[in-house]
This record gives sequence, C-alpha cells and structure tokens, in this order.
Amino acid sequence: MRAKHESREFPINDKEFKEICLLATEYAGIQLLDRGKEDMVYGRLARRLRALKLASFHDYIALLNSAQGKSEFGHFINALTTNLTAFFRENHHFEHLASVVLPKLIQRNANTKRIRIWSAGCSSGEEPYSIAMTVAETVAKDWDVKILATDLDTNMVEHGQRGVYAQSRLSGISQARLRRWMMKGRSGDGRVKEGLRQMIHFRQLNLLHDWPMQGPLDVIFCRNVIIYFDNETKEKLAKRYAQLLHEDGTLFIGHSETLFKVSDAFSLIGKTIYAKA
Ligand SMILES: C[S@@+](CC[C@H](N)C(=O)[O-])C[C@H]1O[C@@H](n2cnc3c(N)ncnc32)[C@H](O)[C@@H]1O
Repeated sequence: MRAKHESREFPINDKEFKEICLLATEYAGIQLLDRGKEDMVYGRLARRLRALKLASFHDYIALLNSAQGKSEFGHFINALTTNLTAFFRENHHFEHLASVVLPKLIQRNANTKRIRIWSAGCSSGEEPYSIAMTVAETVAKDWDVKILATDLDTNMVEHGQRGVYAQSRLSGISQARLRRWMMKGRSGDGRVKEGLRQMIHFRQLNLLHDWPMQGPLDVIFCRNVIIYFDNETKEKLAKRYAQLLHEDGTLFIGHSETLFKVSDAFSLIGKTIYAKA
C-alpha cells in the first residue's frame, strides 16, 4: 500500500488514512477502514484537496481539526457517503407497501386518516418519491400523508428537494407513472409534479444524532444505509427505530442487510421486511 501512496498526487501515509477513516466513523458511523476502501477514499478526497489548493493529506487533516475547518467538514462527509439509489429499487418493497401495509393502515387509521412514513438515508430522493407515488396511487386524496426524507449528505437532500432527474435516472419508472407524476423537460429530464413533491419533507439529518420527530411512525424505510455501520451502531439504530414505530409498524431494510443478531425488537415478515416483534 505504501508504494501506491508514494506515487499519488497527494502524499498520504497509513496513519493519515486511518485518521480520516476514524473521523468519518466517529461522526457518521461510516466504516471505511476495514472495507478495502483506500482508493475510493483517496479519489473522493483528492478532489477536495485540489479545490482547496492543499498540498497534502497532512494539511487537509490539520484543516479538518481546526476551528476554520468546520465548514469543510460537511464537504468531507458529503464526499465520503455512497449515494447509489434508483426509483423503485427493490421493487418488492413498494409492492408490499401497496398490497399489504397501506390497506392495513387505511383500516387502522380510518378515524385519523393520517399516515406517517420516514425514508431514512434517502439519498437524492428516488426512494421517497417512489414511496409517494405508491401512496398517492393507493390512498384517497383526503388523507393526511406525510413522508419525511432525511440524509446526512446535504447535496443529496438538495437534489431531492429540487425533484429533477436526468433521463437516464428515470428507467425504473413505468411510462404510465411518468405521465402521471413527472413533467418532461426539453432535455428529456423529469421534474416531479408539485402535488407529489408536497407530500415529502426533505431534511438533513445524521442518524447518529438526536432526531426531531416524535412518532409514532407507521413505516420506516432505511435501506442500504446500515450496511456501512458497525454492529454497535446497527443495534442502537434498530432500538431507536423500534421506539419510534407504531406497534404495528413496518421497517424496510436493504437487500444485503439483516437484523438477525442485531435486534430482537423486530420479526422478519418478508424479504428484508420487518414488523415490530
Ligand atoms: C446507498 S444510499 C441508499 C439510498 C436509498 N435508501 C436506497 O436504498 O436506494 C445510503 C445513504 O445513506 C446516507 N447515510 C450514510 N450515513 C448516514 C448517517 N449517519 N446518517 C444519515 N444518512 C446517512 C448516505 O448519505 C447515502 O445517501
């Protein structure tokens, strides 16, 4: 690894690499050190060093640890998050939402006509908009439905808020849905229609910090997020999700994630779908 480090544009030694990983883990729970992510970390942060005209990672770490480095910290974290997402990714979750979860909620919440859903780690918004389309197609218009969409990465939250997606990002949406929920721009991009956008509140939120919402929530989507966390962080998060969810609430997690040996507050009811135990 050292030879590779020495041939790079910006000098970085093993101690500096570890220090950077530790900062990301402490702040956001993101595990980089033991995941063979050296090249990725280097590549993403090298862009920051160029933008800041810094000569080495030594200088970059000094900046992050200084009082002036506060504003850089957001860029640092944004650079290190992995934001891969898509509309209707893991579509069986949206099918389950439409055919099982929402019909039950329509019965259970008939008095209040209220549904509360959280997309935790929503990336650039494709997940909460997929939820919103599913809900709007299933639940009557006079219901009070709110979807909270949060992410650590401020660039992602802004993208979600804008609700504009390049044509290449729209392939997961059927033609019928595109016609119903999106407006086409001249370059082929899609802009989410206002009615759908208003169902969602986008906010920046670090899952490791305090949460402003009271609950109880009916549904939580936290997919492809805990995969980056260590076991202790996963356990704490699962406990907090259980506390926030309604006793009949549903939790969706990502395709390569599990709560097995992480939490006994949930029982598995479908493929990566959990109910409170
Ligand atoms: C791979 S994306 C998953 C997006 C979407 N849930 C999906 O499955 O398509 C993971 C997201 O989790 C966010 N994330 C990572 N650590 C976080 C933390 N500590 N708090 C909040 N969001 C976090 C990242 O910024 C990223 O956008």
